[in-house]
Amino acid sequence: MTHRNGPLIIDYKNMLAGSVSQKHGVLPKEIGSLKKKTSNILRKISSERTRGKLPFLDLPYQDIKKIISLSEEISDSFDDLVILGIGGSALGATALLNALTHPYRNILPKGMRKRPRVFVYDNVDPDQLKGLLDLIDITRTAFNVITKSGETVETIASFLVIRERLKKAIGSGWQNHIIATTDPQKGVLRKIASDEGYRTLEIPQGVGGRFSVFTPVGLFPASVAGIDIEAILSGAQSMDKRCYLKKIEENPASMGAILHYIANTKKGKKVSVIMPYSYALEKVADWFCQLWAESLGKRLDLHGKVVHTGQTPVKALGATDQHSQLQLYIEGPNDKTITFLRVERFTEEVEIPKVFENIEKVSYLGGHSLSELINAEQEATEIALTKAKRPNMRITLPEITPHTVGQLLYLLEVQTAIAGNLYNINPFDQPGVDEGKRLTREILEQK
Ligand code: PA5
Repeated sequence: MTHRNGPLIIDYKNMLAGSVSQKHGVLPKEIGSLKKKTSNILRKISSERTRGKLPFLDLPYQDIKKIISLSEEISDSFDDLVILGIGGSALGATALLNALTHPYRNILPKGMRKRPRVFVYDNVDPDQLKGLLDLIDITRTAFNVITKSGETVETIASFLVIRERLKKAIGSGWQNHIIATTDPQKGVLRKIASDEGYRTLEIPQGVGGRFSVFTPVGLFPASVAGIDIEAILSGAQSMDKRCYLKKIEENPASMGAILHYIANTKKGKKVSVIMPYSYALEKVADWFCQLWAESLGKRLDLHGKVVHTGQTPVKALGATDQHSQLQLYIEGPNDKTITFLRVERFTEEVEIPKVFENIEKVSYLGGHSLSELINAEQEATEIALTKAKRPNMRITLPEITPHTVGQLLYLLEVQTAIAGNLYNINPFDQPGVDEGKRLTREILEQK
């Protein structure tokens, strides 16, 4: 039996031609042809890392004392924490909270939940904000405004609304309810925070939103909710060690990047489905979709040539989406790769009772557990897809723990960085998103 914090097990076999045909699967010679390029990419990444140019890779080794002590203070002083952020400034926290706390944590009765409820508000929908304000007592709530640039329209708009409400409801000392997580020096929020005296946390320079889950962006909300963030980082550290092995075949991030790159550019797999068979990992899939989409979806390559790269990421939840998406995946266009996330041991064991033993269509379930069932469903889906020649791979977590989730998120970040280099694009910018931000401002200014 594997240790609960043991290494993730990654099975690529069904991405290969041997499993899903030469037409749809990756051939060993295609992997071979990218080995040199990938080794060069790993060397480039490692040299950029040494020169401090890829600080996201070193986040697992940071000092987290300040994050922990502030989270203790907030946890002791408030009933609720509300995150105001969007995109990379919200999805990491959401992923960690959903993966590593009780599935219905925010609606548990107070006695069953020791620390504050944590809500993530990542939109500018007035009805949603009003709904959230109905739920909380603003005088007992802390707000964590998260924006790297300090000026993202959605986050700043929500912040301005909340700031006014806090001033009105609390009067003197309202500033104690705000924690600003932003760039250490630059941006409007940094200036406002220092002018008005908010407590602040820093997003290290050079770490972009979607690579910021291991900064206070993800770690502070997680710590307020009582998650062991040190263990998250130690999981990321162990994946870091695995991702820098010399042989490409033993480096899971390189293999994931190479296989998806070939599937996309040589086998017409335009869509990358991520399918956790675990409710806890559903938001990790959302986080991954942003990471894969925003990092790889680029118009220009590094030489300025128009390339329009990227695979469209899609989330599907097992077993729920077997009854929604799966028909399409098995029989529709063969234009997808599927990555399963599987959990070997769930925290809870729920036995299915042995009843109706004379009814064949029900009795076969009796005596099995729900975790056996969900994993059997994952296996069945994998077999069905493979039979239909649909390339797929599986990442297995021994259990969902801070350590294994740390491993998973770090793996996917490094895989994305390597894939960006295979496409020869910059995985760390987002000119399309930036243009959307600019245009929104222009439209509002004209009104
Ligand atoms: O990954 C990214 O860089 C983006 O998704 C940003 O996180 C998002 O646009 C929010 O930006 P900011 O943190 O500057 O408010």
